[in-house]
Amino acid sequence: MQYYLAKLQEEVKRSVAGLVSLNVDDIHIEAPGSKIEADLAIPCFTLAQKLNQSPKDIADKLASALKNEAIEKTESTNGYLNVWIKSTALAKGIENDSAQVKQNNIQYGESKLGTDKVVVVDFASPNVAKPFSVGHLRSTNIGWAIIQLLKNWGYKVIGDNHLGDTGTPFGMWVVGFQKWGSEEALEKNGVYELGRIYVKFREEAKKEELNDKNELIASAKEWVKKLESGDETALSYHKKFSDISYRHIQEIFDRLGVKPDENLGESFYLEKAKEITSQLVQKNIAQKQEDGSVIVDLSDAGIETPILLQKSDGASLYATTDIATIDYRVEKWKPEKIIYVVGQEQQFHFKQLFALAKKLGYETEFIHVWYGLVQQKNESGGREKMSSRKGTILLEELLDMAEEKARSIALKTHVSDEDIKKVAIGAVKFTDFSQNKHANILFDWDRMFNLHGYSGPYVQYAAVRVNSILGKIGEEKLDFAASDYSWKSEKDLLKQIAKYPLVLESAAKNYEPHEVAYFIYDLAKICNRYYEEVSIIDSEPNIKSLRIGLLYLIKYIYSHALGILGIAVPSKM
Ligand code: ARG
Repeated sequence: MQYYLAKLQEEVKRSVAGLVSLNVDDIHIEAPGSKIEADLAIPCFTLAQKLNQSPKDIADKLASALKNEAIEKTESTNGYLNVWIKSTALAKGIENDSAQVKQNNIQYGESKLGTDKVVVVDFASPNVAKPFSVGHLRSTNIGWAIIQLLKNWGYKVIGDNHLGDTGTPFGMWVVGFQKWGSEEALEKNGVYELGRIYVKFREEAKKEELNDKNELIASAKEWVKKLESGDETALSYHKKFSDISYRHIQEIFDRLGVKPDENLGESFYLEKAKEITSQLVQKNIAQKQEDGSVIVDLSDAGIETPILLQKSDGASLYATTDIATIDYRVEKWKPEKIIYVVGQEQQFHFKQLFALAKKLGYETEFIHVWYGLVQQKNESGGREKMSSRKGTILLEELLDMAEEKARSIALKTHVSDEDIKKVAIGAVKFTDFSQNKHANILFDWDRMFNLHGYSGPYVQYAAVRVNSILGKIGEEKLDFAASDYSWKSEKDLLKQIAKYPLVLESAAKNYEPHEVAYFIYDLAKICNRYYEEVSIIDSEPNIKSLRIGLLYLIKYIYSHALGILGIAVPSKM
């Protein structure tokens, strides 16, 4: 189904195209600039070039000639055609949309575009045996929101948490554990003990390196090889460390409200990775170098650096398990797309990987959704990469801190622990969506919990407020046509509601959850103006029921939209 506002925009485009004798694709509709009160704007500059007329002449002509039942008025301003939509048309449109979604057995804002198609989203993917650090927070949040956006389109989505559980770090834990660890400490401190061992190993290895020695690293590598060849002791260490990590990672996911469908680590693919490498060598797609390493030339894809599939000591690499993972996913789920939500520093890895996959004939669409850094304020008020004095900041600490903050802003006295947790997570996640994903985001505690600005708690409070108003009224009715919508904020509200399905579609297309966050923030601002301007409870009966109907839709949109971002609505704040 197509939603009303999308349909209307298409109609307008078609009419405009007809009036100037150009293609529909030549016509673009924008949101009007902030100083213009219109509802839609059509820039006439490129049309002017094509038609060899001035933008003003075209806009003037369109302003008088464009006709549509839903249009209230048009105006030509500075080369733009500005269009006002009738409130009653918007209301009717929303009413029809609501009826249609019911018929289609979906909810308002959802679509069936992706039905019968599968997408795999590779997200979160922390490395085992280290405490979950803030480094994987954005992948978890953005990935989860993208999963919800695609599900909203009707796709079957597999959220795959591709754990980093192989490579030299594994060897470091075994060697480190044997040298400096103990069962008791492991029992007691779990993943933090593994984190300690890892740090200690790196320090000691550094000391060796300064003395031109390499024993620690060499024995760590030995263990990785043992793991790859299926050695019993190596496997049992692997299981021991993985189980501990796994429990820790699940705890973090629970706190963040995230639930992957798969949690297959890199080690799961080691065997397949070996097989693939040797097949590629046999088929002469991969070349074995003199030192024993194996590479695939990617120059035909315009990439100078060949991709390395095997080290000289025979060990597989990140790229090797990744290509095996592609093979597994394609065979198992036949996805239309595989989306990797992984930091910007891995752009080149994925460029190589996708080129290799194409070379091997996989037809799946591969997308690397990368994101910027998490930053904090430094002492002089500037920004720096988020870290603690000990190095990487632990997510657990960060979430504890957020809870403490959430408790301090609670307005009511009896706010439950559960609600405090929701507010804490809301603040953290909304910050993640404060800009497009490529931008670095700033963790500024005061701003994150500011109840008057762009923040999770601000929009959560807006949702709590609607719920509490409705709780006091308690009746549901949708009778849109019954009003003249004389209030500006009422029309803004209608517009925002009509826009919602389009925002969801755009956010899914662009893999940009922040578009949904901006939408919610705007909705909250409009709602606040609406309550100030318009009386609900004291209005006359048929208008009252209309306004209450609007509030019910808004209540739904808050919880649906926040749900897309993985944020819950508290019952009290
Ligand atoms: N564990 C990796 C890291 O922390 C991220 C894995 C991303 N997924 C993938 N299929 N490579 O860097």
